[in-house]
Amino acid sequence: MKPYTVQPARGVRGEIAVPGDKSISHRSIMLGSLAGGTTTVRGMLRGEDNISTLKAFQAMGIETADNGETLTICGKGLRGLAEPSDVIDCGNSGTTIRLITGLLAAQNFFTVLTGDQYLRKRPMKRVLEPLSLMGASIHGRAGGDKAPLAIIGQRLNGISYASPVASAQVKSALMLAGLYADGETVVTEPTLSRDHSERMFRYFGADVESFPGGVRVRSGRELEGREITVPGDISSAAFFIVAALIVPGSELLIKGVGVNPTRTGVLDILAGMGGSIELLDRRELSGEPVADLLVRSSRLKGIEIGGAVVPRAIDEFPVISVAAACAEGRTVIRDAGELRVKETDRIAAMAANLRLSGVTVEETKDGMVIDGVERLNGCAAQSRGDHRIAMSMLVAGLAASGTITVDDTECIATSFPTFIPLLEKVAC
Ligand code: S3P
Repeated sequence: MKPYTVQPARGVRGEIAVPGDKSISHRSIMLGSLAGGTTTVRGMLRGEDNISTLKAFQAMGIETADNGETLTICGKGLRGLAEPSDVIDCGNSGTTIRLITGLLAAQNFFTVLTGDQYLRKRPMKRVLEPLSLMGASIHGRAGGDKAPLAIIGQRLNGISYASPVASAQVKSALMLAGLYADGETVVTEPTLSRDHSERMFRYFGADVESFPGGVRVRSGRELEGREITVPGDISSAAFFIVAALIVPGSELLIKGVGVNPTRTGVLDILAGMGGSIELLDRRELSGEPVADLLVRSSRLKGIEIGGAVVPRAIDEFPVISVAAACAEGRTVIRDAGELRVKETDRIAAMAANLRLSGVTVEETKDGMVIDGVERLNGCAAQSRGDHRIAMSMLVAGLAASGTITVDDTECIATSFPTFIPLLEKVAC
Protein backbone atom coordinates (compact mmCIF):
# COMPACT_ATOMS: atom_id res chain seq x y z
CA MET A 1 0.00 0.00 0.00
CA LYS A 2 1.39 3.40 -0.98
CA PRO A 3 -1.02 6.19 0.02
CA TYR A 4 -0.71 9.66 -1.48
CA THR A 5 -2.42 12.88 -0.45
CA VAL A 6 -3.12 15.60 -2.96
CA GLN A 7 -3.60 19.25 -1.94
CA PRO A 8 -6.19 21.53 -3.55
CA ALA A 9 -4.55 23.53 -6.39
CA ARG A 10 -4.83 27.17 -7.45
CA GLY A 11 -4.03 26.33 -11.05
CA VAL A 12 -2.58 23.69 -13.37
CA ARG A 13 -0.04 25.43 -15.55
CA GLY A 14 2.92 24.87 -17.84
CA GLU A 15 4.02 22.61 -20.64
CA ILE A 16 4.35 18.83 -20.37
CA ALA A 17 4.68 15.69 -22.47
CA VAL A 18 3.06 12.44 -21.36
CA PRO A 19 4.69 8.99 -21.79
CA GLY A 20 4.18 6.86 -24.89
CA ASP A 21 0.89 5.24 -25.78
CA LYS A 22 0.36 1.96 -23.94
CA SER A 23 -1.56 0.19 -26.72
CA ILE A 24 0.94 1.20 -29.40
CA SER A 25 3.88 0.22 -27.16
CA HIS A 26 2.47 -3.30 -26.67
CA ARG A 27 1.94 -3.74 -30.40
CA SER A 28 5.44 -2.42 -31.24
CA ILE A 29 7.02 -5.13 -29.09
CA MET A 30 4.76 -7.84 -30.52
CA LEU A 31 5.13 -7.00 -34.21
CA GLY A 32 8.82 -6.12 -33.81
CA SER A 33 9.39 -9.62 -32.41
CA LEU A 34 7.48 -11.26 -35.28
CA ALA A 35 9.18 -9.22 -38.01
CA GLY A 36 12.33 -10.20 -39.85
CA GLY A 37 15.24 -7.89 -38.90
CA THR A 38 15.56 -5.10 -36.40
CA THR A 39 12.82 -2.83 -35.07
CA THR A 40 13.60 0.30 -33.08
CA VAL A 41 11.00 1.85 -30.82
CA ARG A 42 11.40 5.43 -29.57
CA GLY A 43 9.20 6.81 -26.85
CA MET A 44 8.00 3.41 -25.72
CA LEU A 45 6.07 3.38 -22.47
CA ARG A 46 8.01 1.55 -19.75
CA GLY A 47 4.92 0.97 -17.63
CA GLU A 48 4.53 -2.37 -15.88
CA ASP A 49 1.99 -3.59 -18.46
CA ASN A 50 4.42 -3.08 -21.33
CA ILE A 51 7.25 -4.66 -19.37
CA SER A 52 5.01 -7.73 -19.02
CA THR A 53 4.75 -7.91 -22.81
CA LEU A 54 8.48 -7.38 -23.23
CA LYS A 55 9.31 -10.14 -20.73
CA ALA A 56 6.88 -12.51 -22.45
CA PHE A 57 8.71 -12.13 -25.76
CA GLN A 58 12.11 -12.36 -24.10
CA ALA A 59 10.92 -15.63 -22.54
CA MET A 60 10.18 -16.83 -26.08
CA GLY A 61 13.75 -16.14 -27.20
CA ILE A 62 13.52 -12.56 -28.46
CA GLU A 63 16.60 -10.41 -27.79
CA THR A 64 16.16 -6.74 -27.01
CA ALA A 65 18.36 -3.82 -25.95
CA ASP A 66 17.14 -0.69 -24.21
CA ASN A 67 19.34 2.41 -23.88
CA GLY A 68 16.59 4.28 -22.03
CA GLU A 69 15.60 6.20 -25.14
CA THR A 70 15.27 3.55 -27.83
CA LEU A 71 14.24 -0.07 -27.47
CA THR A 72 15.83 -2.29 -30.12
CA ILE A 73 14.10 -5.59 -30.90
CA CYS A 74 15.85 -8.34 -32.88
CA GLY A 75 12.87 -9.82 -34.67
CA LYS A 76 12.96 -13.52 -35.55
CA GLY A 77 10.23 -13.69 -38.18
CA LEU A 78 6.74 -15.16 -37.94
CA ARG A 79 8.02 -18.66 -37.05
CA GLY A 80 10.93 -17.57 -34.85
CA LEU A 81 9.43 -17.74 -31.36
CA ALA A 82 10.61 -20.54 -29.06
CA GLU A 83 8.66 -22.44 -26.41
CA PRO A 84 9.10 -20.65 -23.06
CA SER A 85 10.50 -22.84 -20.29
CA ASP A 86 8.16 -21.44 -17.63
CA VAL A 87 4.70 -19.94 -17.14
CA ILE A 88 4.39 -16.44 -18.63
CA ASP A 89 3.16 -13.88 -16.10
CA CYS A 90 1.15 -11.09 -17.76
CA GLY A 91 0.86 -9.14 -14.50
CA ASN A 92 -2.10 -6.73 -14.59
CA SER A 93 -2.16 -6.47 -18.38
CA GLY A 94 -5.32 -7.49 -20.21
CA THR A 95 -3.78 -6.44 -23.51
CA THR A 96 -0.77 -8.72 -22.99
CA ILE A 97 -2.74 -11.83 -22.09
CA ARG A 98 -5.54 -11.43 -24.65
CA LEU A 99 -3.38 -10.48 -27.61
CA ILE A 100 -0.70 -13.09 -27.08
CA THR A 101 -3.33 -15.78 -26.55
CA GLY A 102 -4.24 -15.24 -30.21
CA LEU A 103 -0.61 -15.38 -31.24
CA LEU A 104 0.27 -18.44 -29.15
CA ALA A 105 -2.76 -20.39 -30.35
CA ALA A 106 -0.97 -20.64 -33.72
CA GLN A 107 2.58 -21.57 -32.55
CA ASN A 108 3.92 -25.10 -32.64
CA PHE A 109 4.54 -25.20 -28.89
CA PHE A 110 2.87 -25.15 -25.47
CA THR A 111 2.44 -22.13 -23.21
CA VAL A 112 0.76 -21.25 -19.93
CA LEU A 113 -0.30 -17.66 -19.25
CA THR A 114 -1.23 -16.20 -15.90
CA GLY A 115 -1.53 -12.78 -14.26
CA ASP A 116 -2.08 -10.95 -10.99
CA GLN A 117 -5.14 -11.32 -8.75
CA TYR A 118 -7.10 -8.77 -10.82
CA LEU A 119 -6.24 -10.18 -14.25
CA ARG A 120 -7.15 -13.69 -13.10
CA LYS A 121 -10.70 -12.45 -12.49
CA ARG A 122 -11.19 -10.92 -15.95
CA PRO A 123 -13.17 -12.64 -18.76
CA MET A 124 -11.12 -14.55 -21.33
CA LYS A 125 -13.94 -16.36 -23.14
CA ARG A 126 -14.28 -13.38 -25.42
CA VAL A 127 -11.01 -14.43 -27.06
CA LEU A 128 -11.13 -18.19 -26.36
CA GLU A 129 -14.47 -18.69 -28.11
CA PRO A 130 -13.57 -17.22 -31.50
CA LEU A 131 -10.07 -18.73 -31.35
CA SER A 132 -11.64 -22.17 -30.74
CA LEU A 133 -13.69 -21.64 -33.91
CA MET A 134 -10.35 -21.19 -35.69
CA GLY A 135 -9.24 -24.58 -34.31
CA ALA A 136 -7.31 -23.36 -31.26
CA SER A 137 -6.74 -25.57 -28.21
CA ILE A 138 -6.87 -23.37 -25.12
CA HIS A 139 -7.91 -24.36 -21.61
CA GLY A 140 -8.55 -22.20 -18.58
CA ARG A 141 -10.22 -22.04 -15.20
CA ALA A 142 -13.96 -21.44 -14.88
CA GLY A 143 -14.77 -23.40 -18.02
CA GLY A 144 -12.13 -21.55 -20.04
CA ASP A 145 -13.08 -18.04 -18.96
CA LYS A 146 -10.30 -17.27 -16.51
CA ALA A 147 -6.51 -17.39 -16.40
CA PRO A 148 -4.26 -19.29 -15.97
CA LEU A 149 -4.68 -20.37 -19.58
CA ALA A 150 -2.93 -23.39 -21.12
CA ILE A 151 -2.40 -23.14 -24.87
CA ILE A 152 -1.42 -26.04 -27.11
CA GLY A 153 -0.47 -24.43 -30.42
CA GLN A 154 -2.37 -25.71 -33.48
CA ARG A 155 -2.71 -25.17 -37.18
CA LEU A 156 -5.57 -22.65 -37.45
CA ASN A 157 -8.13 -21.90 -40.10
CA GLY A 158 -9.33 -18.38 -40.92
CA ILE A 159 -12.88 -17.47 -39.92
CA SER A 160 -15.28 -14.61 -40.31
CA TYR A 161 -16.23 -13.46 -36.80
CA ALA A 162 -18.82 -10.88 -35.78
CA SER A 163 -17.63 -9.81 -32.33
CA PRO A 164 -20.50 -9.01 -29.96
CA VAL A 165 -18.30 -6.43 -28.15
CA ALA A 166 -16.38 -3.48 -29.58
CA SER A 167 -13.03 -4.65 -28.21
CA ALA A 168 -9.62 -3.94 -29.70
CA GLN A 169 -8.25 -6.76 -27.60
CA VAL A 170 -10.59 -9.33 -29.16
CA LYS A 171 -10.03 -7.92 -32.65
CA SER A 172 -6.25 -7.86 -32.23
CA ALA A 173 -6.06 -11.40 -30.80
CA LEU A 174 -7.84 -12.68 -33.90
CA MET A 175 -5.71 -10.55 -36.20
CA LEU A 176 -2.53 -12.03 -34.68
CA ALA A 177 -3.94 -15.55 -35.08
CA GLY A 178 -4.89 -14.55 -38.63
CA LEU A 179 -1.22 -13.98 -39.51
CA TYR A 180 -0.87 -17.78 -39.32
CA ALA A 181 -4.32 -19.17 -40.15
CA ASP A 182 -5.12 -20.84 -43.47
CA GLY A 183 -7.07 -18.45 -45.68
CA GLU A 184 -8.37 -15.15 -44.43
CA THR A 185 -9.56 -13.96 -41.02
CA VAL A 186 -12.30 -11.35 -40.93
CA VAL A 187 -13.41 -9.57 -37.74
CA THR A 188 -16.36 -7.21 -37.58
CA GLU A 189 -17.45 -5.29 -34.49
CA PRO A 190 -20.59 -3.37 -33.46
CA THR A 191 -18.70 -0.05 -33.43
CA LEU A 192 -15.08 0.59 -34.27
CA SER A 193 -12.66 0.02 -31.38
CA ARG A 194 -9.12 1.45 -31.42
CA ASP A 195 -7.42 0.60 -34.71
CA HIS A 196 -3.74 0.61 -33.69
CA SER A 197 -3.34 -3.04 -34.74
CA GLU A 198 -4.71 -2.33 -38.21
CA ARG A 199 -2.32 0.62 -38.60
CA MET A 200 0.69 -1.22 -37.27
CA PHE A 201 0.05 -4.40 -39.26
CA ARG A 202 0.02 -2.19 -42.35
CA TYR A 203 3.18 -0.36 -41.23
CA PHE A 204 5.02 -3.70 -40.88
CA GLY A 205 3.83 -4.86 -44.31
CA ALA A 206 1.20 -7.44 -43.27
CA ASP A 207 -1.61 -8.33 -45.67
CA VAL A 208 -4.39 -6.40 -43.92
CA GLU A 209 -7.39 -4.48 -45.15
CA SER A 210 -9.80 -2.32 -43.15
CA PHE A 211 -13.35 -1.91 -44.39
CA PRO A 212 -16.37 -0.18 -42.83
CA GLY A 213 -17.22 -2.23 -39.75
CA GLY A 214 -14.23 -4.54 -39.75
CA VAL A 215 -10.82 -5.82 -40.79
CA ARG A 216 -9.49 -8.66 -42.97
CA VAL A 217 -6.08 -10.32 -42.47
CA ARG A 218 -4.51 -12.85 -44.83
CA SER A 219 -1.62 -15.08 -43.79
CA GLY A 220 1.54 -15.82 -45.71
CA ARG A 221 3.31 -12.47 -45.85
CA GLU A 222 6.44 -11.95 -43.72
CA LEU A 223 6.69 -8.73 -41.67
CA GLU A 224 9.63 -6.34 -41.98
CA GLY A 225 11.42 -4.63 -39.07
CA ARG A 226 10.61 -0.93 -38.77
CA GLU A 227 11.51 2.29 -36.95
CA ILE A 228 8.65 3.37 -34.70
CA THR A 229 8.12 6.57 -32.74
CA VAL A 230 5.32 6.14 -30.21
CA PRO A 231 3.06 9.18 -29.67
CA GLY A 232 2.08 10.35 -26.18
CA ASP A 233 -0.82 8.40 -24.68
CA ILE A 234 -4.11 10.30 -24.90
CA SER A 235 -5.38 8.12 -22.03
CA SER A 236 -2.57 9.50 -19.84
CA ALA A 237 -3.05 13.04 -21.18
CA ALA A 238 -6.74 12.79 -20.21
CA PHE A 239 -5.89 13.10 -16.48
CA PHE A 240 -4.08 16.37 -17.12
CA ILE A 241 -6.74 17.62 -19.53
CA VAL A 242 -9.44 17.17 -16.89
CA ALA A 243 -7.18 18.63 -14.19
CA ALA A 244 -6.65 21.80 -16.25
CA LEU A 245 -10.35 22.06 -17.08
CA ILE A 246 -11.68 21.73 -13.52
CA VAL A 247 -9.12 23.83 -11.61
CA PRO A 248 -9.83 27.55 -12.16
CA GLY A 249 -6.89 29.61 -13.38
CA SER A 250 -5.30 26.80 -15.42
CA GLU A 251 -3.60 26.76 -18.79
CA LEU A 252 -1.67 23.67 -19.84
CA LEU A 253 0.07 22.67 -23.07
CA ILE A 254 0.46 18.90 -23.57
CA LYS A 255 2.91 18.17 -26.39
CA GLY A 256 2.91 15.24 -28.81
CA VAL A 257 -0.33 13.47 -27.92
CA GLY A 258 -1.72 10.70 -30.15
CA VAL A 259 -5.04 11.84 -31.62
CA ASN A 260 -6.07 8.72 -33.53
CA PRO A 261 -9.82 9.25 -34.14
CA THR A 262 -10.61 5.88 -32.51
CA ARG A 263 -9.16 7.29 -29.26
CA THR A 264 -10.36 10.91 -29.18
CA GLY A 265 -13.79 10.28 -27.70
CA VAL A 266 -12.58 11.96 -24.52
CA LEU A 267 -11.87 15.19 -26.42
CA ASP A 268 -15.32 15.12 -28.02
CA ILE A 269 -17.02 14.43 -24.68
CA LEU A 270 -15.14 17.16 -22.79
CA ALA A 271 -15.68 19.66 -25.63
CA GLY A 272 -19.38 18.75 -25.50
CA MET A 273 -19.31 19.62 -21.78
CA GLY A 274 -17.91 23.05 -22.66
CA GLY A 275 -14.20 22.29 -22.18
CA SER A 276 -11.67 24.47 -23.98
CA ILE A 277 -9.20 22.13 -25.72
CA GLU A 278 -7.32 23.28 -28.82
CA LEU A 279 -5.47 20.88 -31.12
CA LEU A 280 -2.29 22.52 -32.42
CA ASP A 281 0.41 21.45 -34.91
CA ARG A 282 -1.25 18.27 -36.19
CA ARG A 283 1.28 15.82 -37.66
CA GLU A 284 1.86 12.09 -38.21
CA LEU A 285 4.26 9.67 -36.46
CA SER A 286 4.73 6.07 -37.67
CA GLY A 287 1.25 5.95 -39.18
CA GLU A 288 -0.50 7.62 -36.20
CA PRO A 289 -1.86 11.20 -36.00
CA VAL A 290 -0.39 13.45 -33.29
CA ALA A 291 -1.07 17.00 -32.01
CA ASP A 292 -0.26 19.34 -29.13
CA LEU A 293 -3.21 20.03 -26.85
CA LEU A 294 -3.79 23.43 -25.26
CA VAL A 295 -6.25 23.22 -22.37
CA ARG A 296 -7.75 26.10 -20.38
CA SER A 297 -10.00 25.95 -17.31
CA SER A 298 -13.65 25.97 -18.30
CA ARG A 299 -17.09 25.98 -16.77
CA LEU A 300 -18.30 22.48 -17.59
CA LYS A 301 -21.92 21.42 -17.92
CA GLY A 302 -23.48 17.96 -17.64
CA ILE A 303 -24.30 16.02 -20.84
CA GLU A 304 -25.61 12.65 -22.04
CA ILE A 305 -22.91 10.21 -23.17
CA GLY A 306 -23.62 6.96 -25.04
CA GLY A 307 -23.37 5.09 -28.35
CA ALA A 308 -20.37 5.02 -30.67
CA VAL A 309 -18.30 7.51 -28.65
CA VAL A 310 -18.08 5.03 -25.74
CA PRO A 311 -15.42 2.65 -27.17
CA ARG A 312 -13.51 5.74 -28.37
CA ALA A 313 -13.21 6.88 -24.74
CA ILE A 314 -13.42 3.57 -22.89
CA ASP A 315 -10.37 4.04 -20.64
CA GLU A 316 -11.22 7.67 -19.85
CA PHE A 317 -14.56 7.19 -18.07
CA PRO A 318 -13.08 7.27 -14.55
CA VAL A 319 -11.64 10.75 -15.17
CA ILE A 320 -14.66 11.82 -17.26
CA SER A 321 -16.76 11.01 -14.19
CA VAL A 322 -14.58 13.43 -12.20
CA ALA A 323 -15.21 16.13 -14.82
CA ALA A 324 -18.94 15.36 -14.57
CA ALA A 325 -18.80 15.66 -10.76
CA CYS A 326 -17.38 19.19 -11.18
CA ALA A 327 -19.84 20.17 -13.94
CA GLU A 328 -23.04 22.11 -13.59
CA GLY A 329 -26.09 19.82 -13.85
CA ARG A 330 -26.48 16.14 -14.59
CA THR A 331 -24.30 13.82 -16.67
CA VAL A 332 -25.71 10.49 -17.83
CA ILE A 333 -23.31 7.77 -19.03
CA ARG A 334 -24.85 4.82 -20.91
CA ASP A 335 -23.69 1.87 -23.06
CA ALA A 336 -20.52 1.55 -20.96
CA GLY A 337 -21.11 -1.90 -19.40
CA GLU A 338 -17.54 -2.84 -20.43
CA LEU A 339 -16.33 -0.66 -17.55
CA ARG A 340 -17.50 -3.39 -15.19
CA VAL A 341 -14.86 -5.83 -16.52
CA LYS A 342 -11.81 -3.57 -16.62
CA GLU A 343 -8.92 -3.76 -14.11
CA THR A 344 -11.72 -3.37 -11.54
CA ASP A 345 -15.45 -2.60 -11.84
CA ARG A 346 -14.87 1.06 -12.72
CA ILE A 347 -18.53 2.04 -12.41
CA ALA A 348 -18.74 0.77 -8.83
CA ALA A 349 -15.29 2.14 -7.93
CA MET A 350 -15.90 5.68 -9.21
CA ALA A 351 -19.45 5.83 -7.85
CA ALA A 352 -18.16 4.91 -4.38
CA ASN A 353 -15.25 7.37 -4.47
CA LEU A 354 -17.27 10.29 -5.80
CA ARG A 355 -19.93 9.70 -3.15
CA LEU A 356 -17.19 9.94 -0.51
CA SER A 357 -16.37 13.38 -1.87
CA GLY A 358 -19.99 14.51 -1.59
CA VAL A 359 -21.37 13.81 -5.06
CA THR A 360 -24.74 12.18 -5.72
CA VAL A 361 -24.10 9.27 -8.10
CA GLU A 362 -26.53 6.62 -9.26
CA GLU A 363 -25.03 3.43 -10.64
CA THR A 364 -26.81 1.83 -13.57
CA LYS A 365 -26.14 -1.51 -15.25
CA ASP A 366 -24.10 0.08 -18.02
CA GLY A 367 -23.14 3.49 -16.68
CA MET A 368 -23.91 6.14 -14.09
CA VAL A 369 -25.86 9.29 -13.43
CA ILE A 370 -23.78 12.02 -11.82
CA ASP A 371 -25.10 15.29 -10.37
CA GLY A 372 -22.33 17.87 -10.40
CA VAL A 373 -21.45 19.80 -7.24
CA GLU A 374 -20.09 23.32 -6.69
CA ARG A 375 -16.99 21.91 -4.95
CA LEU A 376 -15.85 18.34 -4.17
CA ASN A 377 -15.13 17.49 -0.52
CA GLY A 378 -11.86 16.10 0.71
CA CYS A 379 -12.04 12.35 1.41
CA ALA A 380 -10.16 9.06 1.76
CA ALA A 381 -10.50 7.40 -1.64
CA GLN A 382 -9.78 3.79 -2.59
CA SER A 383 -8.00 2.81 -5.80
CA ARG A 384 -8.99 -0.89 -5.61
CA GLY A 385 -5.60 -1.63 -7.23
CA ASP A 386 -6.66 0.12 -10.45
CA HIS A 387 -4.26 2.71 -11.90
CA ARG A 388 -6.94 4.80 -13.58
CA ILE A 389 -9.11 4.98 -10.45
CA ALA A 390 -6.10 6.12 -8.42
CA MET A 391 -5.13 8.84 -10.94
CA SER A 392 -8.73 10.02 -11.36
CA MET A 393 -9.16 10.58 -7.62
CA LEU A 394 -5.82 12.42 -7.39
CA VAL A 395 -7.07 14.73 -10.16
CA ALA A 396 -10.31 15.17 -8.21
CA GLY A 397 -8.21 16.22 -5.21
CA LEU A 398 -6.82 19.22 -7.10
CA ALA A 399 -10.34 20.66 -7.33
CA ALA A 400 -11.58 19.67 -3.86
CA SER A 401 -12.11 21.93 -0.85
CA GLY A 402 -10.00 19.64 1.37
CA THR A 403 -7.32 17.02 0.78
CA ILE A 404 -8.03 13.73 -0.99
CA THR A 405 -5.92 10.76 0.02
CA VAL A 406 -5.80 7.72 -2.26
CA ASP A 407 -5.03 4.62 -0.22
CA ASP A 408 -2.91 2.72 -2.74
CA THR A 409 -1.12 4.45 -5.61
CA GLU A 410 1.43 1.73 -6.40
CA CYS A 411 -0.85 0.56 -9.23
CA ILE A 412 -0.24 3.82 -11.12
CA ALA A 413 3.05 2.28 -12.35
CA THR A 414 0.94 -0.01 -14.55
CA SER A 415 0.50 2.71 -17.16
CA PHE A 416 2.03 5.99 -15.95
CA PRO A 417 5.02 5.61 -13.59
CA THR A 418 5.84 9.36 -13.73
CA PHE A 419 2.28 10.58 -13.02
CA ILE A 420 2.77 11.92 -9.49
CA PRO A 421 5.97 13.92 -10.20
CA LEU A 422 4.33 15.37 -13.31
CA LEU A 423 1.22 16.32 -11.33
CA GLU A 424 3.41 17.97 -8.69
CA LYS A 425 5.21 19.89 -11.44
CA VAL A 426 2.09 21.49 -12.97
CA ALA A 427 -0.22 21.90 -9.97
CA CYS A 428 0.35 25.15 -8.11
C1 S3P B 1 -6.73 -1.97 -25.28
C2 S3P B 1 -8.05 -2.10 -25.53
C3 S3P B 1 -9.10 -1.71 -24.60
C4 S3P B 1 -8.57 -0.84 -23.47
C5 S3P B 1 -7.28 -1.33 -22.93
C6 S3P B 1 -6.23 -1.39 -24.02
C7 S3P B 1 -5.76 -2.39 -26.31
O1 S3P B 1 -9.68 -2.87 -24.03
O2 S3P B 1 -9.52 -0.75 -22.42
O3 S3P B 1 -6.80 -0.46 -21.91
O4 S3P B 1 -4.57 -2.02 -26.24
O5 S3P B 1 -6.16 -3.11 -27.23
P1 S3P B 1 -10.90 -3.63 -24.79
O6 S3P B 1 -10.42 -3.94 -26.11
O7 S3P B 1 -11.16 -4.87 -23.98
O8 S3P B 1 -12.04 -2.65 -24.75
